[in-house]
Amino acid sequence: MKVAVMGYGTVGSGVVEVIETHEKSIKNRTAGEMLEVSHILDLRDFPDDPHADLFTKDFNDILNDPETKVVAETMGGVNPAFDFTMKLLEAGKSVVTSNKELVAQKGLELLKAAEKHGVNYLFEASVGGGIPIIRPMAQCLAANNIEGVAGILNGTTNFILTKMIEDGMTFEDALKLAQDNGYAEKDPTADIEGFDACRKVCILASLAFGKHVYPNQVRAEGITKITLEDVEYISSAHGVIKLLGQIKKIDDDKITAFVSPAVVFHGSQLASVNGVFNAILVRGDAVGDVCFYGAGAGKLPTASAVVADMVDCAVHVNRRKNFGWGPGSEDYVVDEKSAL
Ligand code: HSE
Repeated sequence: MKVAVMGYGTVGSGVVEVIETHEKSIKNRTAGEMLEVSHILDLRDFPDDPHADLFTKDFNDILNDPETKVVAETMGGVNPAFDFTMKLLEAGKSVVTSNKELVAQKGLELLKAAEKHGVNYLFEASVGGGIPIIRPMAQCLAANNIEGVAGILNGTTNFILTKMIEDGMTFEDALKLAQDNGYAEKDPTADIEGFDACRKVCILASLAFGKHVYPNQVRAEGITKITLEDVEYISSAHGVIKLLGQIKKIDDDKITAFVSPAVVFHGSQLASVNGVFNAILVRGDAVGDVCFYGAGAGKLPTASAVVADMVDCAVHVNRRKNFGWGPGSEDYVVDEKSAL
């Protein structure tokens, strides 16, 4: 099956690498069908890259190629990613993405378009990097009423806080290291101000409750005001500072959801989640508490989730997956005043 990649940054180049290096595992799951990259869309030049023959700067090359059935959108941002994704879905191509900003802002619209055109819009990589969380929430926990979700949802800020706590590193040096490792967003403001975690809270809340929660409904506070002094003070009280995203159901029409730094005491599962790792605790009324843990950012972990979605599209061609958040969903009322 021919596939295309839009955006050849950290994640997009990881997607091409994983497709090329994991032929056997992919074939095992597609009954022998290989994913073959037909186009890589990016406005930049990559003179030393071995995929010279695959690069294009023209989106229409992908849109008008009848053989390219699945496209990975790893561009980030709402525009032009939204416009491109909508056009691809309307043209009968499935789209998979790591772009949480787009899913959080326009997920419902894109899911409705996918439904209308009988294709898939999948976004496993949009929350938790390589951690399987979207499918488990939507499918494995489908029999539960989800009562709440709490988690460390941003690898960059968890990395920064860990370096401050364990190595006494300054905020600025730790941020630079996170950027050098390819964890941070293009503009790290989204990480450190809590906007990236906020987008992930919106996606998880929308999935958990089947109604779209938008970023402007969720209060977000990041870690820019945390000092080394704060970190040391909390350590002396047997705790650690973590940036947490929290969601709780209040009643059938109302939830509370927010992102903020929080003190987590030693002994809690979240206290020992360090570095770029994320952890997401989900409480279901039948299953109880379950915890998802793993690499929350980075090239290959995130690419692993994007390529898994591509494989899923290849296997489920002409069969739509229904995540329960999509056509028929209403917008949610988020009660900003309610505390957990
Ligand atoms: N910048 C994001 C993070 C990337 O640090 O978690 C993964 O979503």
